[in-house]
Amino acid sequence: MKFKGQHILSTQQFDKEGLLSLFAEAKKMEKLVKSGKFGKEMEGKILATLFYEPSTRTRFSFEAAMLRLGGRVVSNADMMQTSSVRKLETLEDTGKVVSQIANVIAMRHPEAGSVKILAEQSDVPVINAGDGSNEHPTQALLDLYTIWKEFGKIDRLTIGMIGDLKNSRVQHSQFGLLKHFKVKFVLVSPKGLEMPSVILKEMGSAAKVVATPEEMVKEVDVISVSRIQKERFVSDREYKKFVGVFVVDAALMKKAKKHAIILQPLPRVEDIAVEVDTDPRARYFHQVGNGVAVRMALLKKVLNG
Ligand code: CP
Repeated sequence: MKFKGQHILSTQQFDKEGLLSLFAEAKKMEKLVKSGKFGKEMEGKILATLFYEPSTRTRFSFEAAMLRLGGRVVSNADMMQTSSVRKLETLEDTGKVVSQIANVIAMRHPEAGSVKILAEQSDVPVINAGDGSNEHPTQALLDLYTIWKEFGKIDRLTIGMIGDLKNSRVQHSQFGLLKHFKVKFVLVSPKGLEMPSVILKEMGSAAKVVATPEEMVKEVDVISVSRIQKERFVSDREYKKFVGVFVVDAALMKKAKKHAIILQPLPRVEDIAVEVDTDPRARYFHQVGNGVAVRMALLKKVLNG
């Protein structure tokens, strides 16, 4: 796949070769971070981060990635309240405007498809940092990078997915990348929050849906957890029906494989018990560091090739 000059909007753009080349670059980036030195690859370049929805990890790690490579950042963490959206500026016009100011844009928005609308009017590459319940491609990239680093491979692994499979853009995007590998899936979710049928259909015979977390953990190498996505529910009452229904705790982890790893994009909300943090299989905080390296690699490939 071609990276240079491209918008990164969906995992659908990636192929296996592109993923492996990105992971190799991310490994080099990890070394740069560990050295404590700053690169020069992005010198003279500016990243604009446009966040219309809250974030801790994604925005900070995009910005840290750009700074680590010697670039600069302009940022708005609260576009809905403090940008010209308040004066009814359209996404299309914001795309035209910001691309006159920055060399690359990372954008998050609560509506599915919104990042694409802005990107279509941008003269510079736009990277999707999460659009509604649609996709979160860079999170999935760092998740697969974490799996690849931990196991030295992705083929022939069994991936368990637990949580809000209906609304988790991360798990949707994970599948968008994992489908390039020979993997199996074991899925479990509270009733009503099942994986969308379009994804389930594409998973085909590689996927098995089970009724309980216990049935899932005993079979899998990777336990991909998502929180119940509060912001996608029509009411608090509706959300509270699901939160805390399935929890990854020490008792559940006793039934999991010794070599299994736990991934969670974070934040967690009653989906992983704090007691699991000291389990050597917990990888959700390591993932965050991997996210900086992966985003450095992506910025380098998109801007420099
Ligand atoms: N993983 C993730 O997207 O976290 P933030 O919402 O904090 O960016």
